[in-house]
Amino acid sequence: MEKPSRLVIAVDGPAASGKGTIARALARHYDLPHLDTGMLYRGVALSLFRFGGDPGNVFEARRAVEALEQVDLGDEELRSETIGEIASRVSAYPEVREALFKRQQDFAGQDGGAVLDGRDIGTVIAPDATAKLFVTASPEVRAQRRFKEIEGRGIPVHLEDVLADIRARDERDAGRDSAPLAQAADAVLLDTSAMGVEEAIAKALEAVEAARG
Ligand code: CDP
Repeated sequence: MEKPSRLVIAVDGPAASGKGTIARALARHYDLPHLDTGMLYRGVALSLFRFGGDPGNVFEARRAVEALEQVDLGDEELRSETIGEIASRVSAYPEVREALFKRQQDFAGQDGGAVLDGRDIGTVIAPDATAKLFVTASPEVRAQRRFKEIEGRGIPVHLEDVLADIRARDERDAGRDSAPLAQAADAVLLDTSAMGVEEAIAKALEAVEAARG
């Protein structure tokens, strides 16, 4: 496996689209460091949740960013739906996004490059990325995937609730003024609705290779 001189890969997409799985596979393939930027927003959400802060209050959300260092970004609690919901709300504040900007940009600027996944990597964080992917799937397919993931963690859940949550999250992520979820003009669209994991990864690799060439 050759290590390219500088390869920055931006992987964006809506909730449960499979962008994280693809980003991790690309990072492994190219031997690059990987940052799941959703975890930063989830970290802010957990920090806010722990001090009983109000997600509707921008000052409290901003305070939660200051306390982010106290959150272990490997904490399982970050993956919960409650925290995902709060993350989706606090990530709409430009103040929160600005406070997390440099950390993400520095990560993308590392020697040798990096893989980052999120909502605004190709549009805001790394607009000059070598390769940009926009990974998506129908809300129904994404709800099914998230449903299995939650069930797999032993948590009882209804598919309809997961679907409703996915739709609400999509609306909030795409409808906000600050860095809304959007496909960059030069991003390759990867609709994984009818693809298995292996096929999605293979297609993503093809797209990155095409962008490098
Ligand atoms: O796992 P899932 O795709 O549901 O969410 P995530 O990627 O962990 O991100 C959690 C929340 O953070 C999302 O609902 C987004 O609103 C927000 N987010 C963001 O605004 N910008 C990013 N670069 C990454 C996540």
